[in-house]
Amino acid sequence: MPISPSYLDELVARNPIEEVVGQYVSLTRRSSNLFGLCPFHSEKTPSFSVAPDKGIYYCFGCHKGGGVVNFIMEIESLSFRDAVIFLAKRANMPLPDDGRPDAVSKQRDRLLALCKASAKYYHEQLKLPHGEPARAYFAKRALSPATITRFGLGYAPDGWNGLIDAMTAQGFTKEELLAAGLALKHQTKGTVYDRFRNRVMFPIIDVRGNVIAFGGRVLDDSTPKYLNSSETLIFNKRRNLFALNIAKKSKADYIILTEGYMDAIALHQYGFDCAVASLGTSLTEEHVNLLSKYTNKLILTYDSDEAGQNATRRALPMLEKAGIAVKVLRMQGAKDPDEFLKKYGADAFHSLLNKSENQAEYFLNALLRKYDLTIDDQKIAFAREAAQTIAAMPNAVERDVYCRRAAEAAGVSPEAIRIEAEKARKKMARAKRIRQERENTAVSQMHQPKERTIRYENMRSAMAEEGLLQQLAKEPELFERVDLDESLFSVPLLGRAYSAMRAQYEQGRTVSVASLGEAFSAEETAHLSSVLQKRGDLISDQAIDDYIRVIREEHAKSNMSVEERLRAAQDRANKN
Ligand code: UTP
Ligand code: MN
Repeated sequence: MPISPSYLDELVARNPIEEVVGQYVSLTRRSSNLFGLCPFHSEKTPSFSVAPDKGIYYCFGCHKGGGVVNFIMEIESLSFRDAVIFLAKRANMPLPDDGRPDAVSKQRDRLLALCKASAKYYHEQLKLPHGEPARAYFAKRALSPATITRFGLGYAPDGWNGLIDAMTAQGFTKEELLAAGLALKHQTKGTVYDRFRNRVMFPIIDVRGNVIAFGGRVLDDSTPKYLNSSETLIFNKRRNLFALNIAKKSKADYIILTEGYMDAIALHQYGFDCAVASLGTSLTEEHVNLLSKYTNKLILTYDSDEAGQNATRRALPMLEKAGIAVKVLRMQGAKDPDEFLKKYGADAFHSLLNKSENQAEYFLNALLRKYDLTIDDQKIAFAREAAQTIAAMPNAVERDVYCRRAAEAAGVSPEAIRIEAEKARKKMARAKRIRQERENTAVSQMHQPKERTIRYENMRSAMAEEGLLQQLAKEPELFERVDLDESLFSVPLLGRAYSAMRAQYEQGRTVSVASLGEAFSAEETAHLSSVLQKRGDLISDQAIDDYIRVIREEHAKSNMSVEERLRAAQDRANKN
């Protein structure tokens, strides 16, 4: 039985390419891609690239490439089907061999039902006599009854099988409890017991309103302070944010991102209903994508400690790259929003929100705190580092404003900072030009496919076809604007890829070369990966409409007779 597209999508989503490849190849990040030494040919400098956002790998040296399934096929020498089974086991998914094509979605529905019933169970425990410690804990944290209800908070009583007994009585199996990450199996005895014991429970709810996992907090100072459900078929912490199900309905046009459950909950209780929290991981690309669906303005309120500030520095460029305007809220006198609200109240937090800094301000202020400007040496170091930061700003007016501010702060002339910044800009521009030239040569060398069975006969059309696929892979919504037929493509392979991606889009699937399945050979998939991995500097600046026009023009030409072509060429010459 063929493997269903939805199964394949799930498999690809649950086996992030960088993790799978990372088990065989040591990878380092360079811009949005990861690079390492190719496992398929011997080399001393890394030409093997992995693009996590596109879900593909490609080696610029030996031209192997594809999605995560292709990688496993190649490196483990497995058939397509066996590679799928290999990855299914790796991700704890039911095997496609279950026979039923929708085994995965059935299992998913069961686990969702189980999590929902468990949330209800935990919540009900709060009202029972043995829920007293949890009630006392919530009271100590000043959570109102309304907040407890709104977030469906609960309590996992002390004991080894409270949840297991309640859920099996409702018809769920122990296997399902294990698969939902709610129970654990004793390694030697094989007995199954509750994962969460004597903890207050925070249900994690996805944007569709499904309970998909839990966070459980101890009631005292023991460790681990928070325990989360394990990753399961229905829960991936890299792709979910706590309280987004509520925040997405907020009237505010921004989202507040916090580090902790309790921070998000406290913010909601104090009227900031647009707060969300990441789930004990640093911000991921998937989080950024998810956020960008709901807002283009975000306020970061990570903890004021060193770790929180490092996380802030890391998150800023990720969010800006996704077109989200980010501001950073700086807290003084409290380590996190929860503590701040309790000490100073909602109005004080509101004024912090209004004072939050954009990226440039944030970096400059961080520098101001870093250096002691009463010491000349440090003043010079400050000016130099500030000039670097300013040089990276794309906008001239912005550069001017911050030159003045930095100068004022350091007590030097704005001219001095400006000169430093201009020097830094020239240096950056030169480095960029050199990089660009290198890449351009590489790109033109790469124009003709390396795979000998695939030839580009019409380079002008082929480049437009490549550009079009790159854009569509990046921004599938563009399919709404593209009304091309596969037959108009000069390269049949690119035409087929176009149709297959279009089908993915229309079926609401993830548009990716990684989940095209068996319809494309290893060579074809490798070539498509190379197309998507090209730095499209030569081509991708053009508007999508240009690609469409070129493809149509070249197709029309290919149907002309020799005389017609000569005439068309003459017409063009006369016009110029
Ligand atoms: P914090 O330790 O900052 O938590 O961890 P907090 O929200 O301030 O906790 P309270 O106020 O003491 O209750 C921030 C987040 O990191 C994750 C949790 O998601 C937590 O909300 N975390 C923390 C864990 O997953 N495990 C831990 O042991 C600790
Ligand atoms: Mn806290």
